[in-house]
This record gives sequence, C-alpha cells and structure tokens, in this order.
Amino acid sequence: MDRAAGDPMLTMTGVHTFYGAIEALKGIDLTVATGEIVTLIGANGAGKSTLLMTLCGAPQARYGRIVFEGEDITRLPTCQIVRRGIAQSPEGRRIFPRMTVLENLQLGAITAPASYAEELERVFLLFPRLKERSAQRGGTLSGGEQQMLAIGRALMSRPRLLLLDEPSLGLAPLVIRQIFQVIRDINRDHGMTVFMVEQNAHRALRLAHRAYVMVNGLITLTGTGAGLLANPEVRAAYLEGGH
Ligand SMILES: Nc1ncnc2c1ncn2[C@@H]1O[C@H](COP(=O)(O)OP(=O)(O)O)[C@@H](O)[C@H]1O
Ligand SMILES: [Mg+2]
Repeated sequence: MDRAAGDPMLTMTGVHTFYGAIEALKGIDLTVATGEIVTLIGANGAGKSTLLMTLCGAPQARYGRIVFEGEDITRLPTCQIVRRGIAQSPEGRRIFPRMTVLENLQLGAITAPASYAEELERVFLLFPRLKERSAQRGGTLSGGEQQMLAIGRALMSRPRLLLLDEPSLGLAPLVIRQIFQVIRDINRDHGMTVFMVEQNAHRALRLAHRAYVMVNGLITLTGTGAGLLANPEVRAAYLEGGH
C-alpha cells in the first residue's frame, strides 16, 4: 500500500468517548497526513491519552468515525488496529519490569512475526543501548532506557503510524533531547508518521510539523508547530514560566 506524503492517513470525525457517564472526548475532528509529525498538547486531564487510546479501540468511540488509510477502524478491536499499522507507546511506558529487554520487544512483534528479525535489527540500530541491555530485566533500566524500550516495542509491529503518549514524562533534559532526536530520525529517515501527545509543549511544537491544542475534551486550536509556538494564547497557557 503505497501512499504519498501529504495524503490524509488518519481522520477523526466527531469522535466522542465516554467513561461511564463522563464524556472525555466531546466531538474530536482531526487529521494526520502521511509523513507528518503531529503533536497534541493540552493540560492534564484534557483528554489527550483518551484520544490516543480511542484510536487504538480501548475505550472505543461511542459516536463518530475514525478512518485509517481509507478504512473505517472505529469499531475494530485493538489487535486488528495494530495489524493494520498503528502502534502506541503508552503514557508511563508500561513495559514489563520482570521480563528482559528482548522479551519486551518480542511481545511488540506478536502481530508481525514474519518481519521479527528485521524489525529487531532496526530497533537496535535506533537504540544501541537496548542491544547492549537486551538480556537485562526491563525494571532495572533507567527511565530514559525504559522509554526507548516502550518506543522500540511499538516499532516491533512495523507500524506506519506511531502514537507516543508523553515520551518525555519524568525524564532529565539530556535524555529528553535524545528521545526527541530519535523521534525526528524515525520520521525523517524511516518515513514513519508520528502522532505525539506532550506536556512539554515547547519541545513538541518545535519538532512537530503541525499541532492541535486540546482543552476539556475538545480541540480548540490548530496550526503549524511554528505558528502555535508564536501564538500569544498558546504562549500564555502552555509555554511561559518554564521549559
Ligand atoms: N479509566 C477512566 N475512568 C474514568 N475517567 C477517566 C479514566 N481515564 C481518564 N478519565 C478522565 O477522563 C478525562 C481525560 O483524561 P486523560 O485522557 O487521561 O487526560 P490527559 O491525558 O490529557 O491528561 C479526565 O477527566 C480523567 O479523569
Ligand atoms: Mg495523559
């Protein structure tokens, strides 16, 4: 399935997601084009993680439509969504601490066993540290290494769209720089489309081609990364006093 850069890869239209009676997404419209890095910024509790999880079908959208590469995936189970080419590195990394680095990576390859060796090599090239530590238990890695493992595990399913939920959370500035560098490389050198949620708005907007701002379950602003960096409203709400 060859798709040219710039084609819409992912479209969400009028997506609402609920936790019981709580409406966490209140009608989300957004697109991610092939080849882009798109970031979603917003305060704690805005619904950013819910949006990424809804893309993976857990929880499922109650209303609205999600189309990936021309196919409606709104009602598909997570495993089928992963098979179609979407993978997520979740908030808090969620690696398996008692399993080795290699075992964690093997789990990510469950939906793409045929290309296992090739993907493993690719992940080890991106993250040489994971190769050095492949026999070590996940729980003994540093925070930055665990983040690399979470991204590496997502890459093992050979996705075309990589979802990253707060990859910089809790990491030191030097490590954040390394992680963002790898995200840029994955996009630029491997042609992977990236949709990334971040609280570190400054770095995320500098890296992203386009961005969305989310407030209380709704998208309130969109533009280029550079445009939002310069936007006074965004500056006041997300950029001043830090970073
Ligand atoms: N499993 C859940 N059950 C009930 N409410 C939830 C659950 N997960 C998140 N929420 C609520 O949904 C809203 C959005 O949360 P979340 O998507 O985690 O926001 P963000 O990632 O932007 O911090 C919040 O009000 C949060 O309390
Ligand atoms: Mg979150």
